Amino acid sequence: MKHLKTLLDWKPAETEAVLETARELKKSWKSGTRQPHLAGHVITMLFEKPSLRTRNSFETAMIHLGGSGIFLTTQEAGLKGRESLADVARVVSSYSDFVAIRTFSQQFIDDFSEWSSCPVINALSDSYHPCQALTDIFTMSELFDDYRERRLVYIGDGNNVVASLAIITAQLGMPITICTPPGYELDSALVAKLQKDYPTWSVMLTNDVAAAVADADVVYTDVWASMGQEAEEQKRKKIFEPYQINEKLMAQAPAQCHFLHCLPAHRGDEVTDGVMDGARSAAFLQAENRMHLAKGLLHWLKQQG
Ligand code: CP
Ligand code: NVA
Repeated sequence: MKHLKTLLDWKPAETEAVLETARELKKSWKSGTRQPHLAGHVITMLFEKPSLRTRNSFETAMIHLGGSGIFLTTQEAGLKGRESLADVARVVSSYSDFVAIRTFSQQFIDDFSEWSSCPVINALSDSYHPCQALTDIFTMSELFDDYRERRLVYIGDGNNVVASLAIITAQLGMPITICTPPGYELDSALVAKLQKDYPTWSVMLTNDVAAAVADADVVYTDVWASMGQEAEEQKRKKIFEPYQINEKLMAQAPAQCHFLHCLPAHRGDEVTDGVMDGARSAAFLQAENRMHLAKGLLHWLKQQG
């Protein structure tokens, strides 16, 4: 049984297969064909953080494929002291074909998957956001035929989103630049592990935004304070201000460069309205693609048995 916990244990061919399945399902959906590959199937979404895209894209994906989704908070699931995680995992997975979990600790997802009788999907933890990274590469593949050669330039906090982007670019051999303020870098142990496992991976780590955008094919950012870091928001605003993606910075990027953002966007902080709504922004294509990717992921996971 295959889980999607971090992407770290996935082979590049598995990631490619999910992207290809998503591509096929998006094409047939756009041509008006409805494919009930998951008729009668259920995804249970166990979320302890808010979500617009992840929850709705999984639920919609299941409905389009003939199945349905059930949404539970960890409070409703009894995980706040009513039952043990192992017992909840065994019960919930016995009713479900997939369980998607959005939580704080990655350990929660790892432990749940040990007890689960169905595939477990990481729908975001403090450490990783693999569904987002799969979608982002899928979106790049629509923007550039030769996307595997294109440089993804992430500017912002060294958080869950960029951790998963680092993993997926390393696995697919794609170049990435990670530009963070000093003290907010991506976990150096993760970078070192990826460099060791994928020696040809081209990763540039910098604190210099101008140097970062100079050879960008995609400029990507995320919120400066992630869910769970709300208390640090004001402090981070001052530190991250020079890392804002604005028209002036985008003007320094090559002409073919697009802008991506996983959303939600804090307009006026990490990105200006002009960039979000500008001609180079593919952020809403990217958001739509969460649904197509969810279909590809669910259908492919089911085929793995
Ligand atoms: N990008 C993303 O995961 O959005 P949500 O937090 O709305 O699910
Ligand atoms: N880094 C953000 C991503 C939101 C989709 C967070 O964890 O809040």
